[in-house]
Amino acid sequence: MTQIKKIGLYTSGGDAPGMNAAIRAVVRTAKYYNIEVIGIRRGYEGMINGEFFPMDGKSVANIIQRGGTILKTARSEQFKTPEGRRLAYDQLMNHGIQGLVAIGGDGTFTGARIFGNEYDMPVVGLPGTIDNDLNGTDFTIGYDTAINTVIDAVDKIRDTAESHDRLFIVEVMGRDSGLIALRTGIASGAEAIIIPETNRDINALMDRLENGRKDKSSKIVMVAEGEDAGGAFEIGRQVKEKFPNYDTRVSILGHIQRGGKPSCMDRVLASRVGVAAVEALRDGHRNEMIGIVHNEISYTPFEHACKHHVEINANFLKIVEILSI
Ligand code: F6P
Repeated sequence: MTQIKKIGLYTSGGDAPGMNAAIRAVVRTAKYYNIEVIGIRRGYEGMINGEFFPMDGKSVANIIQRGGTILKTARSEQFKTPEGRRLAYDQLMNHGIQGLVAIGGDGTFTGARIFGNEYDMPVVGLPGTIDNDLNGTDFTIGYDTAINTVIDAVDKIRDTAESHDRLFIVEVMGRDSGLIALRTGIASGAEAIIIPETNRDINALMDRLENGRKDKSSKIVMVAEGEDAGGAFEIGRQVKEKFPNYDTRVSILGHIQRGGKPSCMDRVLASRVGVAAVEALRDGHRNEMIGIVHNEISYTPFEHACKHHVEINANFLKIVEILSI
């Protein structure tokens, strides 16, 4: 096995707080092992367009506490085509890159898996997404910060809901995943949670409102943006129609969930998997995501890491039901 001397590093897909901490960890670990790092801007799009620049220990100073990604990010349509991937591979070859570290989520790893099978290029991935929807890691980088941003916002909504005796439908992120809604629903004392993974539909919510305690002055319903019931506004419309006595409002939290200073948990997670990623490439790993399971570094092939397999812990929903009486 030839020792890797030069690696490329990129962030791709939706940004997540803690990505900068991961970038810092990868660059500094590479320096520790005398490996050169080439930063690639704007994910696969930048790889195709040759947006490459050298990174050293100093270039990642003072970023561990910053949200977003200094490498910028994008969702690339071109990389989904064989022609796009060929262009990307040629760019990597022209720059003498012998391995890649990808920071992102499901789409990033799907691209990495296809690329790693087509070309002789070792790729390892770091789980960077607020959605927490990857197998092979207990938590993804950004999730902890995002759920704390959500409960901070919902606590504020609760204040005004309480003052006005209102019911709020709060929509959180997670196009295909209810994991943000699930945890923040429990943490903010929600009445009900509507998420895409379960077959609990809007009727379950209606039952809850029909049969639940009537003397509560405020009610919060957490909805994941990807759920099938038609989105928060549609749910709000149906609730208003069925329960005209409730003073109902809808609040969409949106992209504030993706920004902000990463939490301590996210910085530490990013630092741990960042170090492990460089060591993994040195040890000959390829086509794997580096995560942490039960506090130990774990290596999961990209095809297993991707979200279709993530199971919802049914106990979480039961907890909401029990605690919201
Ligand atoms: O992938 C993370 C995520 O924030 C999802 O929760 C959300 O559905 C999506 O990205 C939004 O993407 P965009 O910023 O491209 O609209």
